[in-house]
Amino acid sequence: MEAIDCTVLPARLAYVRMRNVEQVCSAIRSMKVRGAPLIGVVGAYGLVLAARKIRTRDRDETSRQLRKWADWLIQTRPTGVNLRWAVERVFKASSQAGSMASLEGELRKEADSILREELDAAHRIGNYGASLIDDDDTVLTHCNAGTLATAGYGTALAIVRAAVEQGKRVSVIATETRPLLQGSRLTAFELAQDRIPVKIICDSAAAQLMARGAVDKVVVGADRILRTGHVTNKIGTLPIALAAKFYGVPFYVAAPASTVDLETDPSQVVIEERDPREVLYIGSRRVAPRNVGALNPAFDITPPELVTGIITDRGVVGHPLEESLRSKFG
Ligand code: MRU
Repeated sequence: MEAIDCTVLPARLAYVRMRNVEQVCSAIRSMKVRGAPLIGVVGAYGLVLAARKIRTRDRDETSRQLRKWADWLIQTRPTGVNLRWAVERVFKASSQAGSMASLEGELRKEADSILREELDAAHRIGNYGASLIDDDDTVLTHCNAGTLATAGYGTALAIVRAAVEQGKRVSVIATETRPLLQGSRLTAFELAQDRIPVKIICDSAAAQLMARGAVDKVVVGADRILRTGHVTNKIGTLPIALAAKFYGVPFYVAAPASTVDLETDPSQVVIEERDPREVLYIGSRRVAPRNVGALNPAFDITPPELVTGIITDRGVVGHPLEESLRSKFG
């Protein structure tokens, strides 16, 4: 299996090759492969690769070994729910296999369905969301919720793409998204490829631009949307949502059904804490003094009162979010 290596763009367009489940875990952990929906799809195929390692013919032992690999995959990035959702789906498909010979095929069938469904979901999100975008809008987005984060087409960027395909003039403001710069490296790369006008800002400029009326809408992706309407997304989303509320800018979240988690409470969400070096360095250059440490939470949680609406592949979820989410996804 191959995927675009998100750590080296835009300097190089390189591919990460994953020949076994260990390499899948490593690609996800190192964020060569990233973005909640894409991690889900790649994780699903990771479990297919894990099946190749199983040598026993005993059913229970097969299931035990597969479970171990499923858990390995799921813990590589604990915050987004898509990974768990996809891996559990493939794991469940193992019970359909009549024999060891058919196991890998059954798992692959399920992973292929996930890939197809997620690509279809991205286009649906685009279509639902495009109706909320007006001609001449400037859309602010955070992190990268585009092709490079999904099975293709994107979530937040799917909406921009679909609006542009409908003939609307849309320009994008992309936050650079410290520490790993998914905005300036990946979102800007994708949009430039599609010739959609994009300007990069440093993360802390978002509120000032809203204050002077330069942002019409905010559209971001999500890693986990809870029953209550709380939205977990890349660190830095919450301050953008707070500023949007203050300045009256609509704040939309775009995500497929695989990002919706009706079971977990906000207090139970595990916020991934990443290597402090991601903050202390920019690229390979250390920018902080040698004797100073860093905190590096990778995600934050935006409360429902800051969210205008959630654009999903099943339609737009409005307020009250909890009720609307339950009726669409319960
Ligand atoms: O740490 P990352 O780059 O995997 O974080 C990605 C995000 O937070 C995205 O906004 C989210 O996964 C949605 S992508 C369609």
